[in-house]
Amino acid sequence: MKDNGVRLLVAGGAGFIGSNFIRYILGAHADWQVVNVDKLTYAGNLANLKDFDEDERYRFVRADICDAPRIEEIVAAERPDAIVNFAAETHVDRSINDPTLFLKTNVLGTQVLLETARRQGIARYIQISTDEVYGSLGSEGKFSEGSSLRPNSPYAASKTSGDLLVRAWFKTYGVPAIITRCSNNYGPYQFPEKLIPFFVTLLRENKPVPVYGDGMNVRDWIHVDDHSRAIEAVLLRGKPGEIYNIGGGNERTNIEITKMLFSFTGKPELLMKFVPDRPGHDRRYAIDDSKIRRELGVAPQVPFEEGLRETVRWYLENEEWCNAVRSGEYLKFYDQWYSRQGRA
Ligand code: NAD
Ligand code: TYD
Repeated sequence: MKDNGVRLLVAGGAGFIGSNFIRYILGAHADWQVVNVDKLTYAGNLANLKDFDEDERYRFVRADICDAPRIEEIVAAERPDAIVNFAAETHVDRSINDPTLFLKTNVLGTQVLLETARRQGIARYIQISTDEVYGSLGSEGKFSEGSSLRPNSPYAASKTSGDLLVRAWFKTYGVPAIITRCSNNYGPYQFPEKLIPFFVTLLRENKPVPVYGDGMNVRDWIHVDDHSRAIEAVLLRGKPGEIYNIGGGNERTNIEITKMLFSFTGKPELLMKFVPDRPGHDRRYAIDDSKIRRELGVAPQVPFEEGLRETVRWYLENEEWCNAVRSGEYLKFYDQWYSRQGRA
């Protein structure tokens, strides 16, 4: 795709990865423009991008990706060169509690964006997916792009379904779509329900942190800026119809992560509390990212210890942001999931 004067439509750009991606793109490309289309669910927060309020290269439009006429109208008005879709319901525990919204947004919303891209002849469509579509690994092996799709949570099943629609819209209608599947991201502006920001905000208040099961589940952590750089490469040089895995090459057990958080916050390890496991909890994720390294020349750059230390510092210094995003709606879920099910 051309790399000058690009007009991007980013769906879900008010969330964690979308807002970091927009910040990265506008920093890296002075002549690009971004329109951010987001429903502003509990996870979407305009404060994540308030530094761009005055930037004429950036615009926000509030809309639900499931609302086909509205999306059609926005895309017709904006005429983007590419659509990058981050919009999704994303928290596994919420999907266990109430899967319906996950199917609506992650499946039907994806179909609306694909259909709009098809009708309006958009030159690139990037679907931001996840390694969770591949299911769970034992102690050996890694997920490659050809691994079987074996999602285990309602969240993962909804993302897998979205990916299958992307494939069908490419094969049947020739929509120039690409899928990226990344491992667990960390960095600033992540909603404090996900492991790292959740635990840091609890530790700040000297509260115990609930580690599910035996704490030996493994995730491959990548800094959100490394994810943004990889998406940029896929956008510019990726091949339509292809899938690209993105990983951090950085496997850690939840106990290791928790111990690092104790160390970086200066809190005692006696605040580690083992609680009943998440149902269907995937044991291990690990990514084979040799395809994106080889074909697009991208590899993660942020050293994990350094990135995590800075991330922890960001949450400690941005207490106001954390308090503001934890609204009444969030507290209802927190109460139901952690208290009623014996995890608190
Ligand atoms: P997030 O929950 O922080 O943000 C999701 C954003 O989508 C929010 O701004 C929300 O308001 C918006 N949104 C939700 N439903 C919408 C709808 N119907 N219409 C318009 N906007 C809507 O999520 P995130 O962690 O930033 O994840 C972004 C994408 O990356 C998701 O597709 C997720 O599956 C994928 N992903 C996340 C990770 C991770 O570690 N967080 C890893 C791999 C892939
Ligand atoms: P999470 O951040 O929810 O990401 P995902 O499930 O999509 O990988 O969880 C990361 C890991 O941390 C996962 O193995 C579940 C575990 N976890 C806990 O042990 N306790 C918690 O309170 C949370 C939210 C997660």
